[in-house]
Amino acid sequence: MSVVITGASQGIGRALAFEFARHGHAVVLNARNRERLQTVAEEIRTRVPEARGVITVPGDIRDPRVVSFLIGSAIEQFGQIEVLINNAGIGIYDRLWNLRPEEFRVVWEVNVLGTLLCTQEALPFLKKSRGTVIAISSVAGLIPVPGMSGYCATKFAQDALMSSLRMELRGTGVRVLVVYPGPIATGFTRHALGSERPVPSLQTDRLVRPWQSPERLARAIYQAYRRKRRTLIYPWWYHIPVWLYRHLPRLYDFLAARVVASEPKTDGPSS
Ligand SMILES: NC(=O)c1ccc[n+]([C@@H]2O[C@H](COP(=O)([O-])OP(=O)(O)OC[C@H]3O[C@@H](n4cnc5c(N)ncnc54)[C@H](OP(=O)(O)O)[C@@H]3O)[C@@H](O)[C@H]2O)c1
Repeated sequence: MSVVITGASQGIGRALAFEFARHGHAVVLNARNRERLQTVAEEIRTRVPEARGVITVPGDIRDPRVVSFLIGSAIEQFGQIEVLINNAGIGIYDRLWNLRPEEFRVVWEVNVLGTLLCTQEALPFLKKSRGTVIAISSVAGLIPVPGMSGYCATKFAQDALMSSLRMELRGTGVRVLVVYPGPIATGFTRHALGSERPVPSLQTDRLVRPWQSPERLARAIYQAYRRKRRTLIYPWWYHIPVWLYRHLPRLYDFLAARVVASEPKTDGPSS
């Protein structure tokens, strides 16, 4: 049995790889950067004795051949897939009128098409194992955020794919867990596309910081998986803007526009 994790070379995906390995799972790690992925695998091998096994399958999940090789490698090495975690993702920060179509296309293809391809490829095996699909969406997949319209569009779409799939899978024994994190302290903002990225160091606040740890999020996701939950909004207080947007949308618009307008932005190139 194995857990396939896309985008596992850093950030949330890396933390999930450690978390599942610590609970005795074999982990199959994907991301584009071969060296960084290899480093994570080595760290798990040396620091996590409970891990059943770890392999790396580098490549871009926008490419169906990579996805086919990723899922095939998991089956060849470990026989079954217990969990697929659609985690790989990119952000894009721009107001709609500044969005560059070629950048939006990249983000769309990673966040939406990548999720679709990996899920389609893994589903026959997940049906055999009565396994779980986990998608790392975002709070921005539930509430619109000014300055992130392109990213929100991909995360709303990813959520729609996964939430429809949950119903399509009724009776098969396969479960779907969609996770909606708020801001987490990873390289996400630095790696994002677009020209209006917020300054990462100024995003955090002392009270909120512990909740932004990718390791803490990974623990919450593992618990949600074990408890067979269908959704996880993290941290819990993001239920408030979600509720506000659904029930008092004008007030939500007003507050969200003010909060985002007050954030300092960088227009440097992403790294
Ligand atoms: N951090 C946040 O504040 C936050 C909040 C809510 C939701 N999320 C979501 O959480 C997920 C993980 O984000 P993160 O914060 O951990 O960001 P991150 O630190 O930038 O990590 C992104 C991961 O995705 C991989 N990746 C990017 N494009 C890929 C592709 N085409 N094919 C395969 N792998 C690819 C990256 O590795 P390579 O560059 O080597 O490919 C990296 O391992 C994303 O879906 C993001 O939308 C993040």
